[in-house]
Amino acid sequence: MADFLTIAELPRQEILRLLEATRKNVPVAEGRSPNRTALNGRVIANLFFEDSTRTRCSFETAVHRLGGQVFNLTPSGSSISKGESLVDTARNIECMGVAAIVVRCAVSGGAKMVADGVKCPVINAGDGRHEHPTQAILDVSTLMEEFGSVEGRTIAIVGDITNSRVARSATHALATLGAHVRLVGPPTLVSKAFERISQGSGTVTTMSNLDRALEGVDAVMMLRVQFERAAGGAISSDYRQMFGLTPDRVARLAPHVIILHPGPMNRGIEIDDGVADDPQRSRILRQVTHGVAARMAVLEDLVGV
Ligand code: NCD
Repeated sequence: MADFLTIAELPRQEILRLLEATRKNVPVAEGRSPNRTALNGRVIANLFFEDSTRTRCSFETAVHRLGGQVFNLTPSGSSISKGESLVDTARNIECMGVAAIVVRCAVSGGAKMVADGVKCPVINAGDGRHEHPTQAILDVSTLMEEFGSVEGRTIAIVGDITNSRVARSATHALATLGAHVRLVGPPTLVSKAFERISQGSGTVTTMSNLDRALEGVDAVMMLRVQFERAAGGAISSDYRQMFGLTPDRVARLAPHVIILHPGPMNRGIEIDDGVADDPQRSRILRQVTHGVAARMAVLEDLVGV
């Protein structure tokens, strides 16, 4: 791979290879196995033009675990606040000899713009409503730790689907691997175009009744409403009642069903406290550990020695 920009264009074998590398990295990500040396002497630039907690810190941690060094650039405190463009910023950073650039931005397709403007490998850490490919690897890796494989499993992804790069990347990965994906939310926030992602034995269905969508699922991934992408106007005051994962709804799920959320959670809107913190079902913090392992896998693949 030259860059890591989308899941949609990644062949099934490549996804499986990254998932296998992620699985092997989990003990290192947990701090139980020794750090590695694949990025010795390499410097990675984290260019985060949008806010982030998990993604940014896990890329940083992944670089450290591989023996490399990393620095962060965010709009406040940099010349981005003076109007310098995404691509100009990336070109200047590249000239400092970095081995790869990790980029997050509000522009859909922004990671590709950066990749077209520089020669070093670029990793998409979330570009607008488009894709968040390392998140998809960590989501599927968390599911595979639970179920062995996602083939034939039914996963409901619930909330603001249309504006979610997490939903788009996860749906591509899951469908490619033969899972059944149910995309659930208010019709204003669930574009039917997602159904075209169906491929092979993997299916993608859009739904607007959460209780029906939860029947027979193996896992539920809850999503935040993307208020910063103007989605707030599309939700009504009964959102929690219609689309929130409440203890009542969870009580009707089969015992093996697990719950995911990429974070940040808006407790009391899409997910209730007792569900987010459910010791039996919640894998929300486990996803964070898999996030470090997945980012290690991608960095090692692109720039490891
Ligand atoms: C998500 C993102 O930024 O796309 N968070 C993350 O990376 N874990 C989801 C969100 O912001 O709702």
